[in-house]
Amino acid sequence: MLGIPTAIIADMPEELPTMTHPALDRLTREEKASLVSGATFWTTETIEHAGIEGATLTDGPHGVRMQNPDTGEDHLGIAQSAPATAFPDRSALGSSWDVSLLQRIGEALGTEARALGVDILLGPGVNMKRSPLCGRNFEYLSEDPLHAGALGAGWVRGIQVKGVGASVKHFAANSQETDRLKISAEVDERTLREIYLPAFEHIVTEVQPATVMCSYNRINGVHASRNRWLLTEVLRDDWGFEGYVVSDWGAVSDSVESLAAGLDLEMPPRGNGSVAPLLAAIDDGRLSEETLDLAVSRILTTHDRLRAARSELPQPDFEAHHSLARQAASAGSVLLTNDGILPLDPDGQGTIAVVGELARTPRYQGAGSSHINPTRLDLALDAISRATARPVTFEAGYRLDGERDDEVLATATRNAQEAAVVVLFVGLPDAAESEGFDREHLDLPEAQLALIEALSTRDVPVVVVLSNGAVVDLGPVADASAILEMWLGGQASGSAAADLLFGISEPGGRLAETVPLRLSDTPAYLNWPGSDHVVLYGERVYIGYRWYDARELEVRFPFGHGLGYATFAYSDLEVVVPDPQTAQATVRATITNTGERDGSEVVQLYLAPHSARVDRPVRELRGFEKVRVPVGESRTVEFELGERDFAYWGEQGWTADPGEYTIAVGPSSRSLPLTETISLDVELKRAPLTGESSINEWLADPVGSGLMRQALAATSEGSPIPATDEVFRVAGGMPLETFVGFSGGNPVDVIGPLLKDLQAATAPDKAQDSAPREDTE
Ligand code: BGC
Repeated sequence: MLGIPTAIIADMPEELPTMTHPALDRLTREEKASLVSGATFWTTETIEHAGIEGATLTDGPHGVRMQNPDTGEDHLGIAQSAPATAFPDRSALGSSWDVSLLQRIGEALGTEARALGVDILLGPGVNMKRSPLCGRNFEYLSEDPLHAGALGAGWVRGIQVKGVGASVKHFAANSQETDRLKISAEVDERTLREIYLPAFEHIVTEVQPATVMCSYNRINGVHASRNRWLLTEVLRDDWGFEGYVVSDWGAVSDSVESLAAGLDLEMPPRGNGSVAPLLAAIDDGRLSEETLDLAVSRILTTHDRLRAARSELPQPDFEAHHSLARQAASAGSVLLTNDGILPLDPDGQGTIAVVGELARTPRYQGAGSSHINPTRLDLALDAISRATARPVTFEAGYRLDGERDDEVLATATRNAQEAAVVVLFVGLPDAAESEGFDREHLDLPEAQLALIEALSTRDVPVVVVLSNGAVVDLGPVADASAILEMWLGGQASGSAAADLLFGISEPGGRLAETVPLRLSDTPAYLNWPGSDHVVLYGERVYIGYRWYDARELEVRFPFGHGLGYATFAYSDLEVVVPDPQTAQATVRATITNTGERDGSEVVQLYLAPHSARVDRPVRELRGFEKVRVPVGESRTVEFELGERDFAYWGEQGWTADPGEYTIAVGPSSRSLPLTETISLDVELKRAPLTGESSINEWLADPVGSGLMRQALAATSEGSPIPATDEVFRVAGGMPLETFVGFSGGNPVDVIGPLLKDLQAATAPDKAQDSAPREDTE
């Protein structure tokens, strides 16, 4: 099905349009060329006589950013847009680990998009958080591809149920803002396949997004917008993508090359600069008209299918969406530490001193193309005052413009010492992180650091509430009584903060990105952000926890970590391997709420291969489930592991090696109370042996080894390089044909018969009798 999840197939007409769109016959070549780039900044062409209605595409992942052409259109977060619900950013939604929550948010966004006449909403962003410095990390879900893929798929499913298309972006390897239109991500195929592509792959294969947005950057020298390997071989041939590929805004510089590579829609249009070159290229034979027809068909078919899936125009319930945003802000907030001070007692004794300008001037969304105009905005200061009978005071403590104000700081510190507890709001201002640039350090602003230091000398417990789109250095607040990371929590983050502080809701989030001890510990540190338009992904598959675990580095807070207001015990791990010759297992574990209130837990499953033919991460996330467990009750969670879960990307494609694997289940990547080791006896996938295969590769083959030894014994007799194990130890890396030549034989006479013998010995009817023959002629 194209772009439409199963849930709404029932609403679709029997006769689905095919990939040769019926309107093609009614269109001139010029009209077709005009359909593969935008008509305006946010729309595609309407061609009335052919019955083609243009479509509207607009940002963005956290809310609908529908602009009015009369008041300005831009992709930088500058001009105003229609009011829409500002949901929490992706760092918060990623931290929720809650696929169904993301689906519900997708549905709400789909409804708002429909009401505003939007056909395609440009999101979700599922690029990997390669470095905490990336200025746009607030738009991305995770440092782990399985996690980002699962949550992204939930969001896409939700929005597409409403007949609005998603645009999964930015495809691919777009994990930094520095030099983003030119930088070439130099990254090997294994790293792409295992880390930077799987989130896209999962969303494409599970829910068929209507569109995929190609990124600005180059990958191994070729711009994503004209990268045939990426847009056609991987996306369509390998994964079966059926929607259309849209460019990031301004990512196309050569319309002809892009179309030929598999890009369908160029946005926004470059005047006649997009259409004229296509017509010229068809005229002079550089581009086939079929290629143009295919792109037009994909675009029109996708739009038809979205429209066919729609019911009558919905009226968004903005109140309900605000409540959903509030619930999501709690679900994505991560309680990093808590000495027991939280939740605060709303009817307790003593003053609550709210300190920090961010409590009354919140930072709740990121800057750039995802910036929207919220329907309303809750302030934490108001919400806290409303939620408690206790006296609440407020001091700004610092200025958000970065200027240090000693007077403001001194007053805040003086007054705070009279309070029973300080609730300190700190975080990053807009100027610190945004689309378009990367950060240079992980520090909180200087004025806030000075305040933190001053407060730490007073004898009052401090609860720190953080608003930031990406990880900051938490060293300066490490001694606080509690640290609550709220990310950029959306328009309801203020009321959610009060809910969390007073225990009306629980912090449901778990980290989807490691909090390091220092910037120099981070995986891309030595390869960031590149120079001369090139950035080397030198850490390869070792990003996030894969890096810290492989390097045995201490971290401030590990991937997966987060506390709630309940406590949980893990028990009864059961691992069933139905057939050791097949890489497959069923895993069950039991979680018991041992706390004093109902709560939710994110049960995480990691897989650790003991040995493999390639270097592999110590452990990798292979399953997770968020479960709600009432006090005193238990729940059993079940995971199914398949071949791909055991596999790495090698020269034979996805490969699961035989051997031992430890399955570990627990509440974070570094707290895994349940473990069990299983042994798989799956067939070892190898490249076929040839004369160019090394001696070691021949030796590793159970049949080829004996045959090779026999063949060499004959040819190398009396040679200064005899075919002995001693010689093989030093010459093991040598291609067999070279060895034969060195040891006095003629490779042509030896290799041909050897390969024939090998083929005969491994032919299916000889499978039982694979011993080397006596006669190796
Ligand atoms: C961003 C995209 C966005 C597009 C349209 C680009 O600058 O990278 O994420 O969807 O603008 O606003």
